[in-house]
Amino acid sequence: MAREFRTVGVVGLGTMGAGIVEVFARSGLPVVAVEVDAAAGERGRTHLEASTSRAVKRGKLSQEQADELLGRITIATSLSDLAGVDLVVEAIPESLDAKAKLFAEVDKVVGEDTILCSNTSSLSVTELAVRTGRPGKVVGMHFFNPAPVQKLVELVRTVVTEPDVVDDVKAFAESLDKVAVVIGDRAGFIANALLFGYLNHAARMYEESYASREDLDAGMRYGCGYPMGPLALLDLIGLDTAYEILETMYAESRNLLHAPAPVFKQMITAGLLGRKSGRGFYTYE
Ligand code: CAA
Repeated sequence: MAREFRTVGVVGLGTMGAGIVEVFARSGLPVVAVEVDAAAGERGRTHLEASTSRAVKRGKLSQEQADELLGRITIATSLSDLAGVDLVVEAIPESLDAKAKLFAEVDKVVGEDTILCSNTSSLSVTELAVRTGRPGKVVGMHFFNPAPVQKLVELVRTVVTEPDVVDDVKAFAESLDKVAVVIGDRAGFIANALLFGYLNHAARMYEESYASREDLDAGMRYGCGYPMGPLALLDLIGLDTAYEILETMYAESRNLLHAPAPVFKQMITAGLLGRKSGRGFYTYE
């Protein structure tokens, strides 16, 4: 019989973590959101409140529904608060060491049947699975930014994932109104493996003053119907995250398409991370 996921946990309340919490809470699930950094937890709470009140203003939710949605979310600072959940999604920054350590810790706290998922965009899910005592119950569950809007979830199965775990998490993702695709454990999975060659190329064109940033973006928006141009999208993703993804894919494949354009490192060093720092290719209020 298929597993039911009645309560869920999310670790990390950055851009992706907060979006994933919102996805779960919108679908009626109680969510325990763990963020060990209290200031980041506050930012996550503000993000969730802002997103919910935007939905009220746009007439998508009543004030009562928004209050109920926020009431389903418990923000905690200790992993021990995950003890009773059926599924955990890890959404901390892209560091294999930090994620591996976290998986080993969460493994000790949750029940033996709890499924552990990582929202990693390019790191090895197998490396995370083997740090736990339940490698067969670990999968990648990769959401896209903004998580409440983008329909895709990539489910990453490793060579040791139990097949019924993949089936159950796929059914769960579909119950969240997402489209789920299943892929093996290769850096970049499907969407990023295809997308980041293009984004990297756009960053190089910008670096070479091939065209202005506005015209590079307009070219893809109005010529190809993309919802946003590549430089605006890089600002949304975060230049640090984009750089990590490119580096990981390049290290695995040595495909020059993914060798990060030098401008990434320069902008990151200067603190220009995109929307989250107020400035990237563009400047934000
Ligand atoms: N959280 C929640 N909802 C949000 C949101 C957010 N951060 N941003 C936008 N929305 C919602 C709005 O509330 C609105 O909802 P309704 O239609 O229900 O009212 C809807 O999205 C459209 O928003 P806007 O009208 O404000 O703006 P828009 O039409 O210009 O769309 C966009 C904004 C959704 C970001 C759109 O430009 C888009 O889809 N861009 C492409 C994003 C993309 O490619 N993402 C993938 C990045 S790669 C990745 O994430 C993988 C990785 O590992 C890095």
